[in-house]
Amino acid sequence: MSDIPATLAECAVAVLTTADGREKTALSHRMAAAWFAARNAGTPMPIGRGNPPDFPARPDKPELLNPRDMPRRRPGSAAGRLALLHAVAHIELNAVDLHWDIVARFCDVRMPLGFYDDWVKAADEESKHFNMVCDVLESLGSHYGALPAHAFMWRAAADTRDDILGRLAVVPMVLEARGLDVTPGMIALFEKAGVANAVEALRTIYAEEVGHVAYGSKWFHFLCGRDNIDPKDAFHDLVRRYFHGALKPPFNEEKRAEAGIPPDFYWPLTDEHPARNAAERL
Ligand SMILES: [Fe+2]
Ligand SMILES: [Fe+2]
Repeated sequence: MSDIPATLAECAVAVLTTADGREKTALSHRMAAAWFAARNAGTPMPIGRGNPPDFPARPDKPELLNPRDMPRRRPGSAAGRLALLHAVAHIELNAVDLHWDIVARFCDVRMPLGFYDDWVKAADEESKHFNMVCDVLESLGSHYGALPAHAFMWRAAADTRDDILGRLAVVPMVLEARGLDVTPGMIALFEKAGVANAVEALRTIYAEEVGHVAYGSKWFHFLCGRDNIDPKDAFHDLVRRYFHGALKPPFNEEKRAEAGIPPDFYWPLTDEHPARNAAERL
């Protein structure tokens, strides 16, 4: 384990600067194991200071396209299902980087060690998710990189690079919460098509993503409480500032509640909310 860096921030940067998905996630698992081994031994690794790249290293493939230019495929077709899995793999790889980025990016903000435990665990789980989905793609004769992928996945991270509250609001509490809304439909689609390994991967993702959203809500509320800020108002302000567009119902209200996000956080950010529509007419 001698090649494990001395600080957690350097571990994060090592993952962020590794381009290949399988290599990035293998490194991510090893860095997470080193962090938790040191924690369990009672000698936590220092957080240190990171200099994370503006954009994480990425493989040559997939080609990154403007979402407008992404080919459209019928969701019920085999090609549509493959494209969906490819999109999930891309999301998971971005999520690995997003969780390591929050560890390295905000070292100047004093946080309890539990903050780092949560995001290292989340990054470790995203690494597993990426590999599970890649295994499914390969079992179906494809692979990550075979299709184009969404070019703007890092936008939320770039927009919030100086704002930890904005990062927590937009990444775990909006983007990852959206995953809770859409994953049950995807599970049903693959159940209907009889793709057992895809169902298994998506069920694992669904179960573990609730935790990631909950970490977001927990640390968002912690920071608001420390600074005596109203969390609901702050959430609305930050999402309107950093997230481009309205939130889309239907919401998975049960899982969002389990993750600590009450309805009055997200409903006012939809187009359909009467209060928001009235406010915009003023
Ligand atoms: Fe994930
Ligand atoms: Fe996640």
